[in-house]
Amino acid sequence: MVTNTASSSGLTGVALITGAGSGIGAATARAFAAKGVSRLVLVDFAPAGLKTLEAELQSGGAQVLVVQADVSKEAEVKDAIAEAVTAFGRIDYCVNSAGTAALGALVETSTEDWNRVMGVNITGVFLCVREQSAQMLKQDPLASDSTDPKRQQRGSIINLASILGTVAVPGVPAYVASKHAVVGLAKAAAVEHAGHGIRTNNIAPGWIDTPMTNNAHVASVLEAQTQPAKTPAGRAGSAEEIADVAVFLSSTEASFVNGATWIVDGGFTSL
Ligand SMILES: NC(=O)c1ccc[n+]([C@@H]2O[C@H](COP(=O)([O-])OP(=O)(O)OC[C@H]3O[C@@H](n4cnc5c(N)ncnc54)[C@H](O)[C@@H]3O)[C@@H](O)[C@H]2O)c1
Repeated sequence: MVTNTASSSGLTGVALITGAGSGIGAATARAFAAKGVSRLVLVDFAPAGLKTLEAELQSGGAQVLVVQADVSKEAEVKDAIAEAVTAFGRIDYCVNSAGTAALGALVETSTEDWNRVMGVNITGVFLCVREQSAQMLKQDPLASDSTDPKRQQRGSIINLASILGTVAVPGVPAYVASKHAVVGLAKAAAVEHAGHGIRTNNIAPGWIDTPMTNNAHVASVLEAQTQPAKTPAGRAGSAEEIADVAVFLSSTEASFVNGATWIVDGGFTSL
């Protein structure tokens, strides 16, 4: 008889989401709460979206810690993780969604824009992965998520890469380079931490309808390459369609997925 031992009680741990105030990050926080996660840490440098989401999740019965922090700043990332552990004792499902972009041809990209995008998209993800991993290495595997010891995890970390971490389009060179680096970072973390019960993976979304993409400035630069009509699915993805993958990858049902970059793009990179 085959027994599925993946998840006995659902998601019983603590979720921490960066970039939680908007788009994919906010949808991921909601998706975790919908799957029963009752302790959530919401991190963003912009406070506006966090307040609304905090109230919404609390009204659903969740305990919520809001941390205003810039992920590109080492001290702020360290403080954010420390605050989370002080509040909830551990962190189990981290989703690093904070991200930014700069638009323009490579020869017109300023060093300032390059450093800003790299600072958030790769240094910021590195700082988060480093501090999250360091905490997870100190905590016991979460037995309440699975009855199968080999599936029990000290933690899961998911970074938001992009299809632009696999292919390139003209007009966003720093973004493309930063997302390629995110793909490599998850592999580096996975090979060091897989034996310690920590999984580090990426999600690579295609064109997703969020405030990052849903504005005339971005569309004017990128629509020729990545607009929804160019996607085999014939539409943009929704933030919720990325969030659902994040929740699955965080769970012990994905216990053998490590160092992977899951493309969620409606078929765009299959063309
Ligand atoms: N929307 C898409 O089509 C798409 C496609 C591929 C990848 N992604 C990636 O998914 C992630 C989420 O994107 P989104 O579409 O939800 O964007 P979004 O702009 O809606 O949300 C990004 C959030 O990150 C926060 N943020 C930005 N810089 C920060 C910093 N330094 N410190 C803390 N918070 C910061 C913003 O305040 C915002 O709340 C990003 O990493 C993005 O590159 C998005």
